[in-house]
Amino acid sequence: MIIAVDGPTASGKGTIARALAAHFGLPHLDTGLLYRAVGRQVAVNGGDPDDPADALAACTFPDGLLGDDVLRSEEVGGLASRVSVHPAVRQALYERQRAFATQPGGAVLDGRDIGTVIAPDAKVKLFITASVQERARRRWLEMAGRDIAVALAEIERDIAARDARDMGRADAPLKPAPDALVIDTTHFNREQAVDAVLEAVRTRLG
Ligand code: DC
Repeated sequence: MIIAVDGPTASGKGTIARALAAHFGLPHLDTGLLYRAVGRQVAVNGGDPDDPADALAACTFPDGLLGDDVLRSEEVGGLASRVSVHPAVRQALYERQRAFATQPGGAVLDGRDIGTVIAPDAKVKLFITASVQERARRRWLEMAGRDIAVALAEIERDIAARDARDMGRADAPLKPAPDALVIDTTHFNREQAVDAVLEAVRTRLG
């Protein structure tokens, strides 16, 4: 069984995907990490994330980079969003994601285009969302927990810019698949969000 979990940044989709993977005993892939690795590698190469050739060259990042904490930073998130607009980058990362999705027994993948491009055949498609203000608040709390001081307004601006880029790109824009269950977690805490999703998935599976 393939479960596709899409949604904007800081929507809680990663937490939800991990909870679903644990619940159903499936392997999980955070596909955003692949784009983050490309974004980081462009910087390491001294390239320009907006240049398609530089971004494509960075797709051969070393696998060890995927475990590097530096990928979790806001800066790398922004670079990831920029390299992800290039169709050649998306194509270069496609096979890896598709192979993960179609492994025997199934998998849970989270990202932006799992239900629409990587696994349109997924048995369950979820689109997790929340208001920009609430997502900024969550990101701010998470960063405060890591002793990173940033103004809430700045995070809100970054998130809105990232949404606009991810939703506005021509290739595989962020949008719910027509058959996705859209779940708004704005008024849910982490536990309530996971419970709501598990309930929705159980209903969908009958
Ligand atoms: O989920 P994330 O914040 O780690 O993703 C970082 C960026 O990578 C996101 O802004 C857009 C891009 N991305 C994508 O285009 N497609 C995916 N399936 C996952 C991420």
